[in-house]
Amino acid sequence: MSLEQKITSLSEKYFPEVVRLRRTIHEHPELAFEEIKTGVLVAETLEKIGLDVKRGVARTGIVASLKGKKSGKAVALRSDMDALPIQEATGLPFASKNPGKMHACGHDAHTAIGLGAAMILSELRDELNGEVRFLFQPSEERNPGGAPYMIEDGALEGVSKVFGLHVLSQADAGAVGFCAGEMMASADELYITIKGKSGHGARPHHAIDPVIVSAQVILALQTLVSRNLDPFAQGVITIGSIHGGFAPNIIPNEVKLVGTLRAMSKEWREFAHKRVHEIVNGICYSARAEADIHIDLGYPVLVNDEKETMFAESCALQLFGPERVFQAERLMGAEDFAYYLEKVPGTFYRLGIRNEAAGITADIHNDHFTIDESALKAGAAMQAYLAIRALSEL
Ligand code: NI
Repeated sequence: MSLEQKITSLSEKYFPEVVRLRRTIHEHPELAFEEIKTGVLVAETLEKIGLDVKRGVARTGIVASLKGKKSGKAVALRSDMDALPIQEATGLPFASKNPGKMHACGHDAHTAIGLGAAMILSELRDELNGEVRFLFQPSEERNPGGAPYMIEDGALEGVSKVFGLHVLSQADAGAVGFCAGEMMASADELYITIKGKSGHGARPHHAIDPVIVSAQVILALQTLVSRNLDPFAQGVITIGSIHGGFAPNIIPNEVKLVGTLRAMSKEWREFAHKRVHEIVNGICYSARAEADIHIDLGYPVLVNDEKETMFAESCALQLFGPERVFQAERLMGAEDFAYYLEKVPGTFYRLGIRNEAAGITADIHNDHFTIDESALKAGAAMQAYLAIRALSEL
């Protein structure tokens, strides 16, 4: 039997168990850094199949190691475990039992897939050319993310390559999509306070009006993308919240702006931060107002290693055939897998979960979101296959 056939048949064998695990996790969603029960389930499942398990990594994360018969280098497979603060409305028999919490981003599937890959690989120890490190991380949804803490706690020590996936509602169940280079944006939060001088609305010349200044600031910040970014590159700035004032005839003391700034390159991200200060401070100076600017750093740009992405795609072609492999689109969303890729080459790819005939089309972060569970089989097979192939090439 070829390696591909072995992986496929093992993924069939463990499919019912992976579905059961996914439904259990789905039924009991836990938010960022609260993944206690999920972590216990993960750790116990992995211990049962003979893996070396470390608990309490990055607080609620789990790191497990599967060592092959032959010694060699290590490859990491990552799953995220946290749910979202959403009230589930799917009506599924295994819908969330925790009010206001839901696995609406598919991290239940990612966790079950990680466990499925471990089950498959535990039967292929003899063929493993080194160690497979399973990373079950907390808090992908909430900044600062679980990934930097996993790295701090040594999760990547000795690891040469890292692979991770995310479900995608826009692709059919079981298809996998790849994108080399920059795939997802950095996402930083802007907190800007424009400070003026309050006064009577009928005597503006005695005041410094922060409302007028913020209007200028908001419009000028749009030039960050339209005038300060290569038209062939991507970036976004959105001011999503503006608060100031309380009466028709009073000029307030200050106005607060909150926004998000997204970049597709590390260089432009840094440049944009500098320009935010220059633009805001410059306008404030001209109006005799002052500004407090705070940029809360979010996840970095996610950059898929070119070589590893080509390698993963060629693996997918061999395992599934060309009809199930697609070119994944770049997204302005952010993902903390970017931190692992800053340390170790690898790739982050998409796993289709859509089934239009069955009415499974809702996007992630929607209260009707669900998956065609056949994708779990494909995901577990793909992750296991990637690990075993990557080790054989190290
Ligand atoms: Ni997600």
